[in-house]
Formats: sequence, C-alpha cells, structure tokens
Amino acid sequence: MKVTEVLLASLASCAAAYPSRAQSPKPPFFVLAGDSTTAVQSAGGGGWGDGFLNTTLFNGASGRNLGHNGATTVSFRTGGDWAEVLATVKKSKDAYRPFVTIQFGHNDQKPAANISLSQYTKNLEGLVKEVLDAGATPILVTPLSRRGYETSSGTPRIVQNLANETAATIQAAHSMDVKVIDLNKASTDYLNAIGPDNAYTYNLNPTDYTHLNGPGSVVFGGIVADLIIQVESDLAKDGYLKVDKTLKKDVNEGVYYWS
Ligand SMILES: *[C@@H]1O[C@H](CO)[C@@H](O)[C@H](O)[C@H]1NC(C)=O
Ligand SMILES: *[C@@H]1O[C@H](CO)[C@@H](O)[C@H](O)[C@H]1NC(C)=O
Ligand SMILES: *[C@@H]1O[C@H](CO)[C@@H](O)[C@H](O)[C@H]1NC(C)=O
Repeated sequence: MKVTEVLLASLASCAAAYPSRAQSPKPPFFVLAGDSTTAVQSAGGGGWGDGFLNTTLFNGASGRNLGHNGATTVSFRTGGDWAEVLATVKKSKDAYRPFVTIQFGHNDQKPAANISLSQYTKNLEGLVKEVLDAGATPILVTPLSRRGYETSSGTPRIVQNLANETAATIQAAHSMDVKVIDLNKASTDYLNAIGPDNAYTYNLNPTDYTHLNGPGSVVFGGIVADLIIQVESDLAKDGYLKVDKTLKKDVNEGVYYWS
C-alpha cells in the first residue's frame, strides 16, 4: 500500500469505530436480593433498596426490590424468591444489562437459623455462580449495620455484630472473583460519625434499630449507589447511576443528612 492508501484505510477504520463507541451500552437493571434491610418499607421491615431504586437511577436505568423480610441465604431459595430473581434477570436481558445485588447475614447469624459461617459463605458463592450462569453481573453487599451503640469509651460507637458475616461476604466475593461493596463498613463509619440521636431518626419506628424508614432508605440507598459507582464506574460515566451531591458530600464528611 502507498502511504496515502494506508492513511485512508486507517481513517476508514477510525470512522467505522466511532458509531459503536458513541453508542451507550444498555441501561442497567438492578435486581435486589436480600433480607428486610434491603426490602421495601412495610410494618415488618424496610431497607435501602427502595431509596436506591427511587433516587439514584437515571437515563433509563431501572430495577426491582426483591428483598424479603426475615430471609436467610437458605429461606430465600426455598421460599421461591431466588427463582424470582433469576426470572427477573431473564426478562430484563433484552432491554437492559442486568445486575444482581446480594445482601444477607442479619438472619443467617441468628442461632435459630442454624446456618454456620462456612455454610453462609458457600450459600453466597452458590448464588453468585447462578447469577453468572444467568448472564448477569453479581455484586455482593456486606450487611447494613444495625444502629446499636455502646458507650464504654465515653463516645458512642456502633456495636459491630455483623463483622463475621461481613468478612464471610468479602471472602465469598474473592473466591468467586466478583465485585463486593462494603456497606457494613460504610454504614458503620457514617453512623459513628453522626451519633445515635441522628442515627435513630432513620429508624422504621422509634425502637427499631435495624430497619430503615423512607428518609433512611434514601440515605443508605445513596451510600450503596456511591459504593457501586466505585466498582462499576462506567455506570456513572454513562449517566445511569448518580448520587445527590449534598448527600454524597455529607456522607463523605460525616455530616447528618435528612432528605
Ligand atoms: C443444624 O445443622 C446441622 C448441620 O446441617 C445439623 O446436623 C443439625 O441437626 C442442625 N440442628 C438443628 C437444631 O436443626
Ligand atoms: C465471630 O466468630 C468468632 C469465631 O467463630 C466467634 O467467637 C464470635 O463470637 C463471632 N462474633 C459474633 C459477633 O458473632
Ligand atoms: C419509592 O417510591 C415509591 C413510589 O413512588 C413510594 O411509594 C415509596 O415511598 C418510595 N420509597 C422510598 C424509600 O423512597
């Protein structure tokens, strides 16, 4: 080829490459699998899921909250919720790029559930494998902190009673080589920063230190979105996932936020 031909050929390949580069990928569809700390606000539960779906998805991104009150990694499967997750992934695939967030631990850890930590880890790995087989992207989520404080040091600090489940969730992500977001750490840090009086305003009802009301769902749903952006940055670049600027700033600076 002459120099001009080489130049023309390379220009042509550039031109051909442009339309596909400029085209945004399909919007994400988030299927949320988990217990009551993910689930929709109701008399028996309420988590971050609806705040996340309602306030952080844009540009055609969508999702569905399949969090189930009282669920463990075992009951979520035996009760039919997991089948619903996989069916939802399948239905969403034509129009969307499906993601499945997986967050358990609050009920798995209860003695009555009789689920060992190693079984919990194995169960999470099994769920991850099935998400991958279904052609979706799994994101493991460490369990949202409860809002119980201890004051032995003089300064109220969150009681970290989900540390084992947090470590096990991270271990499952590493063994399956998939993404994990550390919601337990992010929520613990924020709750320590704002202190109990502010933290309790997110309670589903005054004496429920586990479940979130609507404003709490928006705060912790925003924290989840911010953590997801850190591991899936394209979702922010393409305008699909966005966290309210004030919320993001307040969380980063440990300042109390109320929507
Ligand atoms: C708890 O689980 C173990 C292992 O699966 C089983 O052997 C045991 O019988 C269970 N205990 C109860 C009280 O269900
Ligand atoms: C975490 O696991 C260790 C070792 O199995 C156990 O001694 C400890 O009680 C567990 N912590 C909690 C908060 O369950
Ligand atoms: C989410 O949106 C639905 C529908 O508008 C609303 O009923 C619900 O209260 C909202 N929940 C949160 C936590 O924002």
